[in-house]
Amino acid sequence: MDFKQKVAEIIKQLENELTIEEIMSFIEIPPNSEMGDYAVPCFRFAKKYRKSPNIIAQDFVEKIGLTNEFEKIQNEGPYLNFFVNKKFFVKNVLEEVYEKKEKYGSTLEGKGKTVIVEFSSPNIAKPFHIGHIRTTVIGNSLYKIYKFLNYNAVAINHLGDYGTQFGMLISAYKKWGNKEIIEANPIPELLKLYVRFNKEADEKPEYRDEARYWFKELEEGNEEAKELWQWFRDVSLKEFSRVYKMLNVEFDSYAGESFYSDKMSRVIDELENKNLLQDSQGAKIVNLSEYNLTDALIKKSDGSTLYITRDIAAAIYRKETYDFYKNIYVVGSQQKLHFEQWLKIVELMGYEWAKDCEHVQFGMVSLEDGTLSTRKGKVVFLEDVLNKAINKTKEIIESRNPNLENKDEVASDVGVGAVIFQELFNNRIKDYVFSWDKTLSFEGETGPYVQYTYARTCSILSKSNTEISSRINYSILSDKLAFNVIKKIDGFSNAVLSAAERNEPYIITRFIVGLAQEFNRFYHECPILVDDNETKNARLLLTQSVNTVLKTGLNLLGMNAPVKM
Ligand code: ARG
Repeated sequence: MDFKQKVAEIIKQLENELTIEEIMSFIEIPPNSEMGDYAVPCFRFAKKYRKSPNIIAQDFVEKIGLTNEFEKIQNEGPYLNFFVNKKFFVKNVLEEVYEKKEKYGSTLEGKGKTVIVEFSSPNIAKPFHIGHIRTTVIGNSLYKIYKFLNYNAVAINHLGDYGTQFGMLISAYKKWGNKEIIEANPIPELLKLYVRFNKEADEKPEYRDEARYWFKELEEGNEEAKELWQWFRDVSLKEFSRVYKMLNVEFDSYAGESFYSDKMSRVIDELENKNLLQDSQGAKIVNLSEYNLTDALIKKSDGSTLYITRDIAAAIYRKETYDFYKNIYVVGSQQKLHFEQWLKIVELMGYEWAKDCEHVQFGMVSLEDGTLSTRKGKVVFLEDVLNKAINKTKEIIESRNPNLENKDEVASDVGVGAVIFQELFNNRIKDYVFSWDKTLSFEGETGPYVQYTYARTCSILSKSNTEISSRINYSILSDKLAFNVIKKIDGFSNAVLSAAERNEPYIITRFIVGLAQEFNRFYHECPILVDDNETKNARLLLTQSVNTVLKTGLNLLGMNAPVKM
């Protein structure tokens, strides 16, 4: 039930020439609830009636009379103030949660529309490090949010499994590699080869030519090169899968950069035919100076293609395969220029759907002891961070609640959840510093706090031994503390919609932490399992609604909701 809409409908009965949208646009929310929940300023009718706005407000009050939805409609100066009928409001919201259960907050806005969410996309043979956590966690949440809104969402992992660095790896492996050592510890060992190659190439520039040669061979189907590449890819993916499993992340497609290797010549021909390519010392570029962007190198002088060429091919492929409504890329803001370049090129190719592609950027994460760099080989593995979070959580459980069942499972849900929650707490563009203390605290605005509140609702509900019903005395829930909880619940759908619209999961993070806080305020003042059945049943229904919405919210962030902690 949308009360603002209801206010608009009431006004429309008096002012039929206005549309509902027009009326909605000038309805205000008064600064405090003593002045009502909605206000209509009557200045705008003064001209028409040639009366003062104060008199008009007074006339309107008389004409409107009594309604179900509002317990009071008052004129206050030039304003018409609407006071929501609390009992009616409370009943409306809680009945809806009761009926829709885990679907509460969802809408059909996505029906028949496909949204591609590309996220994570780590590079093969490179560490899956803490820098990847943001794209993985933000993307996974957006994927879930779109699904919840009934979009046909497609999760794509655009693996970095192609490019000159594979030429380097092949060369390095042929020089110094050892199969057993790599099999035993793939990514750190491959990283070592890569780092050593880069270091030695600084003194021996011919190494770089060698690397280019091997990548060229790979592109042209040389068996030895292909076999090594496949092996690097397989062992790396095995490692990544472990992290995805811990984070409970799944993809619909792993079509990474190599997937487009046979689709590149078509792109280059098309660019050529559309007169977009220029020669530059034997290489092919698209000149973008007109758009204040640096030129885009599309094909090197040795004929090999680039990261950007593959992105153009991928976008065209996705449009043809999925006919997307939106195609979003959850990729760090360091790649802003890259995205601006290729999106411009797709637009210049005449594809009107370029406007439906969006680079969903985010800022950097660093650890308290400084940032990380792959090139120097100093790196924090994401898996180690998650394991540390799980172990620390286990210590907390051991000291607070040593008899808890499924300790390992709970430690994993809470530890991993804490990391996810921290990641999604701020708007994505902000850089932030990862702090262990903040992440794992059970107090304040943290994942464990919300999960703990959820577990609290579970325990109340199971202790009550009562079949929850929506046939309760709703006036019991019209007091301020209960009403605040329910008003919060009522905002859930809006929070989800704006999270999708702005591609900002943090709106849901803030929402659920706010709901947990409101519920805890209520819980500390209003005992739930009381002797009086009428009160108990009403408060239990409220508790169950909070339970439902917290769980949905946590799941939309990609977090689990353990029933006991
Ligand atoms: N593999 C890249 C990296 O780790 C990210 C890929 C982003 N996606 C894209 N379509 N370019 O930096």
